[in-house]
Amino acid sequence: MKYREMGKLGIRASAFGLGCMRFNGPASGDSVIDEQKAIGLIRRAIDGGVTYLDTAYVYLDKTSEIVLGKALQDGYRDRVTIATKMPMEAVKNEEDMENLLNTELKKLQTDHIDFYLMHGIDRKKWEYFKSIGAPAFFDRKKAEGKIRYKCFSFHGSYEDYEYILKDYDWDMVQIQYNFMDVDNQAGKKGLELAGSMGIPVVIMEGLLGGRLSKAPDNVQALYDAFPVKRSPVEWAFRWLCNHPQVSVVLSGCNEAEQIDDNLRIFDTVESGIMNEDELRLMDSVRAAYLSRTKVGCTGCRYCMPCPNGVNIPGVFSAWNELSLYGGEPRYHWDLRGIRERGETPDKCVACGACEAACPQHLPIIEKLQQAWKEMQD
Ligand SMILES: NC(=O)c1ccc[n+]([C@@H]2O[C@H](COP(=O)([O-])OP(=O)(O)OC[C@H]3O[C@@H](n4cnc5c(N)ncnc54)[C@H](OP(=O)(O)O)[C@@H]3O)[C@@H](O)[C@H]2O)c1
Repeated sequence: MKYREMGKLGIRASAFGLGCMRFNGPASGDSVIDEQKAIGLIRRAIDGGVTYLDTAYVYLDKTSEIVLGKALQDGYRDRVTIATKMPMEAVKNEEDMENLLNTELKKLQTDHIDFYLMHGIDRKKWEYFKSIGAPAFFDRKKAEGKIRYKCFSFHGSYEDYEYILKDYDWDMVQIQYNFMDVDNQAGKKGLELAGSMGIPVVIMEGLLGGRLSKAPDNVQALYDAFPVKRSPVEWAFRWLCNHPQVSVVLSGCNEAEQIDDNLRIFDTVESGIMNEDELRLMDSVRAAYLSRTKVGCTGCRYCMPCPNGVNIPGVFSAWNELSLYGGEPRYHWDLRGIRERGETPDKCVACGACEAACPQHLPIIEKLQQAWKEMQD
């Protein structure tokens, strides 16, 4: 296992951090987590050198912290750092924060949390949390030793990210990043900004939730043609670890084989490891994925709100994702939400208001119909 510096904190962490959000039930599709299996996986990772574990109050129907707390008995707690997250949407005042933190400490069976994150904030939420005293609460808990580092996780726009990052004395930030998200969310620019401020960056969704582990034929052909053979997972993690600003790459694993594979990969990867040919390969891989994009919607939302309630950018984003990474429409998380809220393309009456507003001049009406045809199964 390679260990990497955590920016200004003066500590090191395992390059591979175990994400505790994806443990399965005893049978595939079960909503109840297989506790013994999950405990076994967590301890296997720690025995293999993992020192960084990531969970959150809400993961796995609020059971992830409990299972992690159990796994960290028998001396395991002292060997690792725990990152967990406050579910900020449940917070209205300091009393709520106090109660939540105490609950999390109890579930994790520990007297302190190493990395405490405001979970999935954007600029609007950040302003609200400031107004109810969340930063002062985090400062106080750090001074009391209940948390060691004040952090946030982020999925929003670069602009929001830069604003939040510069607005408080953060100890760490967790962002979504992988070779497909160079210009998405915080992106490469956001990674480099944190690096320039000495703020360590922990990466989530390094495999886009597993989607980058299965290469489509046009991508696999590129990997196969490269003189050195590596799996898509290895290429993705190697590319991430090549960035000096990355401290920890989280990966959620369901099987012992995945843990072992990741332990092997993270034993070999370090910053600056990729040569020019390898970097060119990853650029071609990105382009090959993007060649499967169905519609060039940038998600600017100028077309919204649709007078008939169609979630135009949401539909296009789900359609592109299905085309890029495969999968079945019925299991696509965003598409399920669109269906449940009745925001589907069949509501379109071709009024054309969206096309008049679209800065990309997309033939939205035609594309919506095409998307709807392909998204039903
Ligand atoms: N704060 C937030 O808002 C937020 C959001 C997302 C994630 N997170 C955290 O970040 C962690 C990492 O994100 P993630 O779980 O999405 O990571 P990820 O690495 O992008 O995806 C994990 C999935 O990749 C597949 N995988 C992992 N190792 C593999 C291997 N060696 N070979 C083949 N497939 C492999 C598995 O997919 P299969 O299940 O298909 O086998 C696994 O479930 C989460 O567990 C969670 O702790 C936080």
